[in-house]
Amino acid sequence: MNTHLFVAAIYDALMVPADKLGFEQVRRMVVKGASGRTLEIGAGTGLNFRHFENARQVYAIEPDPNMLRRAAGRMENGVVLARAEAERLPFPDDTFDTVVSTLTFCTIGDPLGAAGEIKRVLKPDGCFFFAEHPIAEKTFLSRAEKIMSPVWKRIAGGCHLDRDIISFFISAGLTVSEIVRLDSFFVAGRASKGAPCSLPGYTK
Ligand SMILES: C[S@@+](CC[C@H](N)C(=O)[O-])C[C@H]1O[C@@H](n2cnc3c(N)ncnc32)[C@H](O)[C@@H]1O
Repeated sequence: MNTHLFVAAIYDALMVPADKLGFEQVRRMVVKGASGRTLEIGAGTGLNFRHFENARQVYAIEPDPNMLRRAAGRMENGVVLARAEAERLPFPDDTFDTVVSTLTFCTIGDPLGAAGEIKRVLKPDGCFFFAEHPIAEKTFLSRAEKIMSPVWKRIAGGCHLDRDIISFFISAGLTVSEIVRLDSFFVAGRASKGAPCSLPGYTK
């Protein structure tokens, strides 16, 4: 994968407006739901680490060394950090009670492969919690996202605006059982290998 020195340097500042618009609350909701042995994929600069209060043991993977360095300065709640890609998770089958992803599937090179890996490392009764920005449902917004995506990808560290992210989870064989749509851009939800799992409530 490409590394993004500049994006890593300004990432936290870029997240301030998104967090003010409500994404910080979404992070808290998604990450607080994590319990037991937990994996975060694409941890970025580690903005989620402080919310892993209910997890027993947290592993976080991130492939970009520039992001990884910043995340390493933010270790909280006993997080163990490693350089790895979501398409090749360095863990045995059925390892995790919870897998978490926030704003990562827009950037992953092979999102279907990564969704398959999440399914592989989840325990049979494990839960995958996510908060992502899939392509908008409204036609005029989705049209704009399709047009802007090639340019955005170049300036925003490989982020695609036009991915139908939930379809990757379903195609990988995950059961997506709850979705909360947040404004026009963000979606939070949960998926599993079939067993029920609960998503803590979101209130704005
Ligand atoms: C928009 S940032 C989100 C960071 C963090 N999850 C957050 O919510 O702030 C996307 C992250 O995905 C990482 N990423 C890119 N390709 C990846 C891959 N193949 N596997 C795992 N993470 C990847 C990027 O390096 C970047 O840190």
